[in-house]
Amino acid sequence: MDRNLALELVRVTEAAAVACGRWVGKGNKMAADDAATTAMRKTLESIDMAGVVVIGEGEMDEAPMLYIGEEVGNGSLPQVDIAVDPLEGTNICAKGMNGSITTIALAPRGGFLHAPDMYMDKIVVGPAGRGSIDINATPSENLRRVAEAKKCAIEDLTVVILDRPRHDEMIAEVRQAGARIHLITDGDVAPAIACAVEDSGIDLMMGIGGAPEGVLAAAALKCMGGEMQGRLVFMEEQERDRARTMGIEDFDKVYNTEEMAQGEVFFAATGVTDGDLLRGTRYFAGGAVTHSIVMRSKTRTVRFVESRHYFDSKPA
Ligand code: FBP
Repeated sequence: MDRNLALELVRVTEAAAVACGRWVGKGNKMAADDAATTAMRKTLESIDMAGVVVIGEGEMDEAPMLYIGEEVGNGSLPQVDIAVDPLEGTNICAKGMNGSITTIALAPRGGFLHAPDMYMDKIVVGPAGRGSIDINATPSENLRRVAEAKKCAIEDLTVVILDRPRHDEMIAEVRQAGARIHLITDGDVAPAIACAVEDSGIDLMMGIGGAPEGVLAAAALKCMGGEMQGRLVFMEEQERDRARTMGIEDFDKVYNTEEMAQGEVFFAATGVTDGDLLRGTRYFAGGAVTHSIVMRSKTRTVRFVESRHYFDSKPA
């Protein structure tokens, strides 16, 4: 696939961040999400690709734009799958807290796991911990193995966990094992990626979050040589029916990074609010500055891009 697609994708996440960044701290997560989705949809129109949204804003009857099955791009080759989360961390954006991003990933047609909008149990490490994690092992066993792989003490490791009652036992066990914990209120895609950034200060991510967000994180980790394992978590029978219609038959399957994001994958994300991975979008008279990450699995080049946007020559 044309490597320039990477730059096209970062234009998409930048446009979404500039649009929804206006809603930071305004207490209206729907408006922020809507602004990001509209900008992302518009920017996607001009890209040379025949894209189909497989991870998106919901089903056709739930979402006006970027719904699952929607065709995006200008219809020319290549044929690709698109995974989007126009605003990942809607609550943190609405509250002006750290860690919200706009994000998109692209794979050859059929490349992404069609993950239903439900929960997924996840464990993530960066390249140095690759091969050492096992989602079926206990948190303390995983910490022991990752510390061994990284040639450090468990006390040196920092684990990101979503601050939810469902994780109380895991949090207690991680503390007992001696690792440091960074609890987050929302938005687990950016910290999953941060596991693969050497100096981010984050070593692992563990726990249950959204399955669509899991596929986006897997795309990024594949580009960075990190590792993720995920298993769908079914809360009610309806979710099993839904998964079946999306082609999932083995409900206990553990998906590895490659099974969630196959083939040559591209990934881009832009910061909306400041975070461990990216700086948030800032505005100046007549423009905005964005900070993004963009990468593709074929070359594993990871680019951090700071862009200055001037609204008089490119209306926002
Ligand atoms: P938004 O859909 O509001 O952006 O929330 C995203 C998110 O925080 C994910 O990052 C995370 O995986 C999931 O929601 C956690 O779900 P829950 O809030 O139900 O625990």
